[in-house]
Amino acid sequence: MRIDIITALPHLVESPLSHSIVGRARAAGLLDVHIHDLRSFGLGRYRQIDDEPYGGGAGMVLKVEPLFDCLKAVMAESPDIPVDEVIYMTPDAQVLTQATVNGLTLKSRLVVIAGHYKGIDQRVRDAVVTMEISIGDYVLSGGELPACVLVDALARLIPGVITDAESALTDSFQDGLLDAPMYTRPASYRGMDVPNVLLSGNHEFIREWRERMRVEKTRRIRPDMLGD
Ligand code: ADE
Repeated sequence: MRIDIITALPHLVESPLSHSIVGRARAAGLLDVHIHDLRSFGLGRYRQIDDEPYGGGAGMVLKVEPLFDCLKAVMAESPDIPVDEVIYMTPDAQVLTQATVNGLTLKSRLVVIAGHYKGIDQRVRDAVVTMEISIGDYVLSGGELPACVLVDALARLIPGVITDAESALTDSFQDGLLDAPMYTRPASYRGMDVPNVLLSGNHEFIREWRERMRVEKTRRIRPDMLGD
C-alpha cells in the first residue's frame, strides 16, 4: 500500500511513522509512505499557504491553490498506482472505527491531507476529497497526529507487518468486543495474583474465561458496543 501525506508540518508526521510497527512495515517495503511539504507549493516569496477566512472570524484557512498544486504533483508521482481515496483529516467528520480501517486496507493508494489552522478551503473538500475522517470528538491543533493515527491503524493490518505474537485479529474492536485483561510473569506481585485459570494450562477454560471477561469488560466500559 502507498500512502501520500500532505502536510505543512512534515517533521511532525515523519517521526511517529519511523518507529515500531509502522517503521518496520516501511523498512520491509510493505508500506510505502511519502510525506509532502505543502509549504513548497506556497504562493509568492513567503510561500504563503494560509489566509484569513472570508466573512471574518478567528483562525486561518489553508488556501486552495497550494493544496490543488500539491495534489496534482502527488497524483503525477507513480501514475501507475491510481489514487483510491483522498482523505481529509478533520474533526467535523464521521469518527474513525475499526470497520473503516479494515475497509481501507483493501485500497492500494491513499492520499491523506492533514489540515491545520482553521481547516482547508471548502473547494478542496468539494472537488477532490473523497472521504473525511475524524479520530474523535475533540479538536487537535492540526491533522498531523490524526493522519499518523490512521496510518498506524492501517499498517498493523497489512499482511506480514505484525507477527503472530502481536496478532491483530484478537485486538479490541475486531469482533465487536474489548480485549480481555492480560498478564505476564511473575504470577504474584506484592500480593496481586494472576487469575488461577491462566496458570491452569487448560486452554478451553482459558478461552472461556477470556470470552467472559471480554463481555463483562465491554458491558462495564462500553455498553454502547453491545447495543445496551
Ligand atoms: N484535526 C483536528 N482535530 C481533529 C480530529 N479530532 N480528527 C481529525 N482531524 C483533526
